[in-house]
Amino acid sequence: MEKDVLTLGIESSCDETAASIVKNGREILSNIVDTQIPIHEKYGGVVPEIASRNHIEAISRVVKMALKEANVTLEQIDAITPTYGPGLVGALLVGLSYAKALAFANNKPLVGVNHIQGHIAANYITYKELKPPFLCMMMSGGNTQIVHVKDYTGFEVLGKTRDDAIGEAFDKVARVVGLGYPGGPKVDKLAKEGNPIFDLPKTHFDNLDFSFSGIKTAVINLNHKTPDINKADLCISFEKAVTGVLIENIKKAIDKTGIKTIALAGGVSANSYIRNEFMKLEKDGVKVYMPDLKLCTDNAAMIASAGYYNYVVGKRDTLDLNAIPNLKL
Ligand code: KG4
Repeated sequence: MEKDVLTLGIESSCDETAASIVKNGREILSNIVDTQIPIHEKYGGVVPEIASRNHIEAISRVVKMALKEANVTLEQIDAITPTYGPGLVGALLVGLSYAKALAFANNKPLVGVNHIQGHIAANYITYKELKPPFLCMMMSGGNTQIVHVKDYTGFEVLGKTRDDAIGEAFDKVARVVGLGYPGGPKVDKLAKEGNPIFDLPKTHFDNLDFSFSGIKTAVINLNHKTPDINKADLCISFEKAVTGVLIENIKKAIDKTGIKTIALAGGVSANSYIRNEFMKLEKDGVKVYMPDLKLCTDNAAMIASAGYYNYVVGKRDTLDLNAIPNLKL
């Protein structure tokens, strides 16, 4: 029998300080997420410098909790796998530096993880049977792209946003209609009480790229012109428009590649309207996967899972590994 591989994932790319131990890339032994949302709420968004300082205060405690909850020692860990991009540079540096120090002091391999690769890997934890190849609809606060997941460590971006990331658009809409930060979950909740009565303008491209800024601006203008507008109707109309764009492009990607397995990923994949609409594709013979809700938003279990796959193909990093804020897949 092959020996189990334990990876220690460390995540600090934005406003969550997280550490997790995952077995063989698929089984969570612990998953600690220390969120800074209440700290940033009063500023209406993440303040990078404040995020870095809070990561520094939390990181040691969070990693110790992850080891304790998994009931393993550092000695038993096979690889230390931190996020090294994309994200806020000061925030990334905290988790990465901590991971480098742990790897050096304990003589363990250091294996860097791309945060987007981590979001995709959240699906491997939720679905033990899921294997590449598949298409991934990646939707987060900083990224929106359709990725052809060729294997566990091989990716091709087929299309991406030309302006706002979808999460950014959700957060902006939430702010203008007065829902506050973080906006996505609040738009999701309010939209359930509305009717999609507003037909918002969508931008189409010949390729698989996206644009969300036109839809976002239309929402802002409607809200501005009609102060007593029904906010729930506006939220569901916004969700309907952006989901229409996502579905149109994923259908094009299916036609282009012939791949009929798709997985959702990223914080916006927690959205209930988007999840429902994607599930409807199953009646056309498409198999749709979506991560458990707690694995959609930032966490370190997904990073430990991606770290496992990087580790088993032999990826190793040195202590020179730096944070890369705009790291691509
Ligand atoms: O993936 P994530 O946690 O962080 C990044 O890596 O960017 O995504 C955060 C984004 C935020 O914009 C947040 O508003 C959005 O995900 N989000 C949602 C929902 N939950 C989180 N958007 C729509 N509906 C949700 N239920």
